[in-house]
Amino acid sequence: MQNNVITEDASGYHWEPNPGYGGNYVYCSKKISPNECFFGLGDKPASLNLRGKRFLNWGTDTYGFAKEQDPLYRTIPFYYGMHNGTAYGIFFDNSFQSFFDFGKESPDVMSFWAEGGEMNYYFIAGPQLIEVAQNYAYLTGTAEMPPKWALGYQQSKWSYYPEDKVWELAHTFRDKAIPCDVIHLDIDYMDGFRCFTWDKTRFPDPARMINELRKLGFKIITILDPGIKVDNKYWVFNEALEKGYFCKRQDGDYMRGKVWPGDCFFPDFTNPEVRKWWGGLYKELIEQNVAGFWNDMNEPAVFETGTFPDDVRHDYDGQQVSHRKAHNVYGMQMARATHEGVKNLRKELRPFVLTRSGYSGVQRYGAIWTGDNVASWEHLWVANMQCQRMSISGVSFVGTDIGGFIGEPDGELFVRFIQMAIFHPFFRGHSSSDQGDKEPWAFGAAYEALIRRAIEMRYEFLPYIYTTFWQYVMKGTPMIKPLVFLSQNDPQTWLREEEFGFGDQLLICPIKEQASTGRIVYLPKGNWYNFYTDKLYKGEHEVYTDAPLDRFPLYVKEGAVIPLQPVMQYTDEFPVRQITLHVYYSVNRNVSYFYEDDGDNYTYTQGNFSVRRYTVFGNRKQMRIVQELFGTFKSNYEDFRIIIHGLPFKPSEFIIDGTPVKLPKRLRDKTLTITVNKSFSRIQIM
Ligand code: GLC
Repeated sequence: MQNNVITEDASGYHWEPNPGYGGNYVYCSKKISPNECFFGLGDKPASLNLRGKRFLNWGTDTYGFAKEQDPLYRTIPFYYGMHNGTAYGIFFDNSFQSFFDFGKESPDVMSFWAEGGEMNYYFIAGPQLIEVAQNYAYLTGTAEMPPKWALGYQQSKWSYYPEDKVWELAHTFRDKAIPCDVIHLDIDYMDGFRCFTWDKTRFPDPARMINELRKLGFKIITILDPGIKVDNKYWVFNEALEKGYFCKRQDGDYMRGKVWPGDCFFPDFTNPEVRKWWGGLYKELIEQNVAGFWNDMNEPAVFETGTFPDDVRHDYDGQQVSHRKAHNVYGMQMARATHEGVKNLRKELRPFVLTRSGYSGVQRYGAIWTGDNVASWEHLWVANMQCQRMSISGVSFVGTDIGGFIGEPDGELFVRFIQMAIFHPFFRGHSSSDQGDKEPWAFGAAYEALIRRAIEMRYEFLPYIYTTFWQYVMKGTPMIKPLVFLSQNDPQTWLREEEFGFGDQLLICPIKEQASTGRIVYLPKGNWYNFYTDKLYKGEHEVYTDAPLDRFPLYVKEGAVIPLQPVMQYTDEFPVRQITLHVYYSVNRNVSYFYEDDGDNYTYTQGNFSVRRYTVFGNRKQMRIVQELFGTFKSNYEDFRIIIHGLPFKPSEFIIDGTPVKLPKRLRDKTLTITVNKSFSRIQIM
């Protein structure tokens, strides 16, 4: 790094005693370099580059949050700095309320501080942003492979009940041939909002319903909140009370607060014994075959007061601390208790947990959705920023309530939202019930067709999405990458924020305006094919891209190999008999991957997986595709259908592993389709 200063203290570490609580307020300040950009910090609904702004971290239930509102639900005290082509990261591992000022108070000073705890921060060297992201993931923990079904489309609403309504929903999906893997049951499935119970008039026999829904290819996810109803006829309440598992106030009273069930007490998830107990409570839901678990309101949210008062006591793994220290990790510890409990109860299968709150490292326990957003065009932009930012903050398994939780999207807004969400790893439509229907068919036939097409596209891209997830699991590589992560030496990318990369080979740019039929897209370095037209464009340029309502700007990197599968109504509807490899001609050598495993169990950790590595390159007269295979997973298909895009010549012949095949005249086309055995090692096209 040739003696370039990466980051330098301004006044560095300093502190002030905290007379009210004891301990110190801890501060650190650093000089801002000219042209320095800042990224990261989790779910902030603001522009990607954080320079000139100040933020607060204190997980907060923020129903109908606005652009720029701060703080929201999560705390990820980790940021990137980047200047002169060099990036670094700082992770301030302090769970107290913390602040980050990126030159708002004083334009050339960046500072971060917390209301207590230690000045415990990690410096992560780059120089590439991607390397910083990967090392931050090593530090805070990488995710596990999710069950594949959790990458399918998920349908939710507050709430689907009674059972008949769920059946009507399930049948409508199948009748209309709109793919869907999961139906969520929000709080009204419970008996008076008591966790781990069912309302038996609405759902008389949950196990029967769930198992019958499985025959149609649907899995059920149920919601659970941390608030346990104060009710001495309720076993969960009694058990926790008896065992001393509820949080208490400083002077010994229980922490009492109103949430959906009315008066509640709250388990102390920072206590390992409580986590174990909570994890065990899932036993019955697991026996009933509930597939996944949604942990909500875990900031923790309390109706009158927002959250717990500061004096509430927590075990904090034996440290005995106040809520000031435990608040920001409470939700993550709930998700952890759920993840560990479910994994223990159903050892052979991968758990799926969805959580609203979280702290750095929450990616180890599940997926995140961004909370109670609004059906507006502005929120489409907000969702784009939040998902990109969460992804570079260690949490790639992220998504938003497609179409907006609050309010009524029109068909056009919903279509644009779901087109973007195809490339958000967590893919769920969810909304509040009192505001009309927002299922894919709620907007009339023309929109229904467009929404179906978007969901179908998600299922076609699943092999690529799953591979991208594997890369995230193995290396901590963000699945969604802001443009600057693709080309950090290009100053054009420093402030652009709407285009994003997905995996190694795709670039997406959402349409964020009403009545738009296209937009300007900036392509980073390299050459890029328009996915719909196969036209090739030079990177480091702006390109006006047509996007009538059935399209959105989607580009493929030259030399890419993109594995696609047929449309399915749910992820394991039928064994895949053929994968189509879309191969994009390139003069420059490009490498792509295709990962496969069993999809829902842990045999991949014992070697039952396969990775195919493709290298593509060519010249004006020929092109080569090299395949290298690692691993032993047995897929259900024998052949690949290979579609070559962008050949600059009319092919007359190809050679597969030494065997030449002459092409009949009528097939000599620049988009060439050939079928080959999946174990090929090299194909040469001339
Ligand atoms: C919260 C959640 C929302 C859920 C509702 C009812 O507002 O964020 O997703 O539908 O509670 O459980």
